Amino acid sequence: MSEFKININLTKNSNINSVDFENIKFGRVNTDHMFICHFKDGKWQDGEIKPFQNISLSPATSALHYGQSIFEGMRCQKSTDGEDILLFRPEENFKRLNLSAKRMCMPEIPEQVFNRGLETLIAIDHEWIPTTQGSGLYIRPFYFASDNFLGVKESEDYIFIIYCCPVNAYYSNPLSVWVEQRYSRATKQGGVGYAKCAGNYAASMYPAKLAKEKGYDQVMWTDSEKHELIEETGTTNIFAQIGGIIVTPSLSDSILPGITRESIITFLKSKNYVVEERELDIHELVEASINGMLKEMWVSGTAATVVNIKRFHFNYKDYEVPMPENGLKDEILQALVGIKRGEIEDSFGWMKKVKPKTSANLA
Ligand code: COI
Repeated sequence: MSEFKININLTKNSNINSVDFENIKFGRVNTDHMFICHFKDGKWQDGEIKPFQNISLSPATSALHYGQSIFEGMRCQKSTDGEDILLFRPEENFKRLNLSAKRMCMPEIPEQVFNRGLETLIAIDHEWIPTTQGSGLYIRPFYFASDNFLGVKESEDYIFIIYCCPVNAYYSNPLSVWVEQRYSRATKQGGVGYAKCAGNYAASMYPAKLAKEKGYDQVMWTDSEKHELIEETGTTNIFAQIGGIIVTPSLSDSILPGITRESIITFLKSKNYVVEERELDIHELVEASINGMLKEMWVSGTAATVVNIKRFHFNYKDYEVPMPENGLKDEILQALVGIKRGEIEDSFGWMKKVKPKTSANLA
């Protein structure tokens, strides 16, 4: 694509002073601006940064009916000296967004649209990045089919938006989970479970509601055929330490390739832990729990970061999971948080620095 331009139109009324940063509910507060870019006439148009605002859509908007809609979840922090914005592995989100786009038959996002939109937006809204423990700026890039047409076919027009929310921890406590044996999040082969598409999240809500009614925080998803192989938990990937080995379900058509998941595997291997990406059968987990071999379990995701599972329910029975003090979850969390904040050396080359924009350097 030829040189991509971003028109910048800043708000005259920042909301930042009305926000109680200590008590933000996840996703309820957004920053002052958003980035928007349209795909039409077969190409991505110039982008715009503008005050966060509603968008006007026709009732015939294709995404609302047929669900061609994908997203990413990303995070950035401020470095401790406040000089830089630190983005965690943005190139991985870029790649995964285009993986999802391909599966949902949507045009790929060019790298410069994604990177320049993202970096300009966070550079402008940098004062919104919270700095307390567990907090950060959650970034939501997404795009959807915007044709006004009721026929079922891939859209010709799309709208790509990035907006940001200052957030605290997504889960504040360890989780109790219901091992799902009736409903499925995604089909085992040939489905869309690996894509970060809106429909996967819609499909998860009813089983999650039922699990909550039964007193559990989340669903532990199992394979759609026999409901025996563990896949994910809620909107996160899952890990179990069984004896001295850390097991996480291997990636497949029905598992989201989590960036935090991959970072944890890389980190653990660098510390010489044995990590196995393989099938994890619920019966193996139950047996490990009964034999005392199940040492710890945790979930991982961009929003959730890393959180322990304290209990799982399978076949009319609750199984308590140990949550050792200074256990593996703590070791991983400390390392990831330290790297993300620039407090621990980034020996994996994960962090990308972006300079905040001030009125002086806002070209
Ligand atoms: C993320 O961790 O970024 C997710 O996508 C979970 C989200 C649906 C809250």
